[in-house]
Amino acid sequence: MIVRIPATSANLGAGFDALGLALSLYNDFIVTPSILQSIKIEGEGENIPKLRKDNNFMKIFNEVYTSLGGQEQNFSFYLKNNIPISRGLGSSSAVIVGAIVCAFEMLKIPYKKDLIISKALKYEKHPDNITPACNGGFNIAVVKNNRVFYVRNKIPQDIKAVIVIPNKPISTKYSRKTLPKQVSLSDAAFNIARSSMISGIFMQKKWNLLKMVGDDKLHQDKRMSLLPILFSVKKEALKNGALLSVLSGSGSTFLNICYRDDAPKLARILSNKFSDCRVLELEFDNSGISIL
Ligand code: HSE
Repeated sequence: MIVRIPATSANLGAGFDALGLALSLYNDFIVTPSILQSIKIEGEGENIPKLRKDNNFMKIFNEVYTSLGGQEQNFSFYLKNNIPISRGLGSSSAVIVGAIVCAFEMLKIPYKKDLIISKALKYEKHPDNITPACNGGFNIAVVKNNRVFYVRNKIPQDIKAVIVIPNKPISTKYSRKTLPKQVSLSDAAFNIARSSMISGIFMQKKWNLLKMVGDDKLHQDKRMSLLPILFSVKKEALKNGALLSVLSGSGSTFLNICYRDDAPKLARILSNKFSDCRVLELEFDNSGISIL
């Protein structure tokens, strides 16, 4: 049994800590009972020895497995990672959600996605990656009384994502520290209007309006200053067909959304111009957690 979890892109600019969507880029997790405990990581992170010693997936799986009444035993863990680490593509959420789902599957305990989301909230405090990682599609998420409430919509095939992944990681923890503790009423109002509009656009599919709502006054500029090339990525993307060009989560990846037909040209231009970055043309994912 393979548990597959998609990459996610949180915030979408103005929707800081509230909006997120899923992308067709996946981590696959396989856990099997074994005489000795072992872990094999393939793909992203395979060359980081620390990940094998102190592995979050293993820790969370064991914790949830025990809390669900699982008997003590060893497992072998196989992690096939396609989601780049510390690039704002939800790799931590994929690990968290994947580990929780694997524990339920191992014990053959039926679960709903909502239960996985609420368990995942213990490990990741903002809901904008874990919710789309579980549900797929476009999600608006709110945390109240330690529970996640969300509205979710499928993303149709008229639009695609072209993501630009710099070589340099940005740590979410560090980049959150660079953000101001207080913001002005006018900046808050600026973001509320755009974030609400983005949500409406994804519900009503009025993609052209995305061009009007890509700005944000709460977090992007500060974070992009950590990697100034991102300002050029945004400019080039908007010049060449992107409807929305925003930092993915806390970065360093940039998410560009464009009409399906414009995606190949946009990807080509960005990959020629920013040859140090990886550029991927991706569908949106509408499945979230998948068991293969
Ligand atoms: N909303 C979060 C942030 C996403 O921007 O810091 C990263 O987890």
